[in-house]
Amino acid sequence: MFCRNKVKNEGSGNNLTVYSFDNIFLGTASKKYVKNASKEIKSIDSGVKIIDKFPDGVFLFSISQEKNKFFEEISRTPPIFLRHIQPIDIVLFFHTDHTDEMIVKTIDWLAAKEITGKKVAVQVRKMPFQREQSAFSYKKVIDKCVLEKYSAIPTVKNPDIIISLYICDSTGIDIDSGKAVELIPDSGGDSTYNRIAMIGMSTPRENLCERSGGIVRFAKEPGQLSRSGFKLLEAFEVFNFEHPEEKNALDLGASPGGWSKVLLEKGYAVTAIDRAPVDPELHKLGEIKIIQKDARLYSPKRNSFDILTNDMNRDPAHSANISVQAAMGLKQGAPLIMTIKLTGKNPEKIIQKTLKTLERAFVIKNVRQLYNNREEVTILGTKK
Ligand SMILES: C[S@@+](CC[C@H](N)C(=O)[O-])C[C@H]1O[C@@H](n2cnc3c(N)ncnc32)[C@H](O)[C@@H]1O
Repeated sequence: MFCRNKVKNEGSGNNLTVYSFDNIFLGTASKKYVKNASKEIKSIDSGVKIIDKFPDGVFLFSISQEKNKFFEEISRTPPIFLRHIQPIDIVLFFHTDHTDEMIVKTIDWLAAKEITGKKVAVQVRKMPFQREQSAFSYKKVIDKCVLEKYSAIPTVKNPDIIISLYICDSTGIDIDSGKAVELIPDSGGDSTYNRIAMIGMSTPRENLCERSGGIVRFAKEPGQLSRSGFKLLEAFEVFNFEHPEEKNALDLGASPGGWSKVLLEKGYAVTAIDRAPVDPELHKLGEIKIIQKDARLYSPKRNSFDILTNDMNRDPAHSANISVQAAMGLKQGAPLIMTIKLTGKNPEKIIQKTLKTLERAFVIKNVRQLYNNREEVTILGTKK
C-alpha cells in the first residue's frame, strides 16, 4: 500500500497540490537489464513492487521497508545492474504553459530541507520525445532559485545533495487510491495538467552514482580510436579509482587502442597486447610497447606492472583465466579493471562463475554494468 499525504498549499498563489511519498523510487538500468536490476532490488526488499516502466530503462518501484533502511541495505550490497536510484518525495501535476507553478512548488518544498550553504546538484530528466522545454532549461531556473532563495551552491560535480526531477506524462502511482495504475493527467476542459514532475532529494551515495540517471557521457574527441575508451574512463570515475604512484600498465585485448590511449593520457607506460594490430599512432602519446600476439602466449616479468586492464572479447571464463595468468606480472595490491561479456541467457551465473576464477588471484572490489558497457559488466579487483 502506498503511503500518501496531501501537503497543504502554502499560499504561493497557485493551486497545484503537492502529493508526498516516502516509499517510491525511480530506478535506472540499461534497457536490456531492467529485469536483472528489479531482481536485485527485490533481493534487498522482498516487498518491492515495480509499478511502472518508462522508456530508456527507467522504472518506478515502491519499497516495503523504511526508506533509510533501504538505502543502508543497498549500500551494503551494491547492485550490479541497477545503475541509479532516486527517491520520489513529491509528485506535482502541471501544465507546460505554466512551468513556473511547478518550479514555485518545488522551491517551496525545499524550504524545510535545510540546503543553505550546501552544494546542490539539480538533475532533471524528461521522458524522451517531449518536445517542450528542455531538461536543462528547468535546471537553470531551479539552480537560480536555490541560489537566490536558500543561498545553496548550484554544483555539478561532488554535490552534498542532489535534487532530482523526472518529467513524464503518465505515472503508475494512483494518487487517490494508492494503487498502481496507469494514471494519465487529464488535460481536457478546464483541467490544467499535461505533465507530471516526480521529485526527490538524496545524496550522491544514496543515488548509487552522482550523475543524473547514472548517465556518464564523455565528449567524443578528435582522433578517438574507439568508443571503448569511455568504458575505462567511466570505470575510473564510478569506482572512485585512485591511480597508483608508479604507472606501468598491461593492457590485454588492446586493439584498436582506446583503453591504451586513455592509459597513456593518464601518464602510464603501456604494454599493449592483442592478436589484432594496435594503432601505431599511439607511440606519439607516450611510452607504449605494442605486442601483436595471443595474450595466452605472453608471460609478463614478475612484479613489473602496476595495473592490469583486460577488455578481451573472449568468453568470460577464458578471459578470466588469462587475467589470472597475467596476475604474476602484477605487484601486490595492483588493480585489475576487466570487462565480462554477457553472452548467455543467465548473466548473473556468468558473472559469479567468472568472479570465482578471478578470485584465485584477485580480491573483487566492485562489479557494475556501466552506462558505457553494452552486453557486459566491468570489474574492479586488486591483486592478492
Ligand atoms: C572489445 S576489443 C578491445 C577494444 C580495446 N579495449 C579498445 O579500447 O580499443 C576486444 C579485443 O580483444 C582481442 N582478443 C580477444 N582474444 C584475445 C587473445 N586471446 N589474445 C589477444 N587479444 C585477444 C580481440 O582481438 C579484440 O581486438
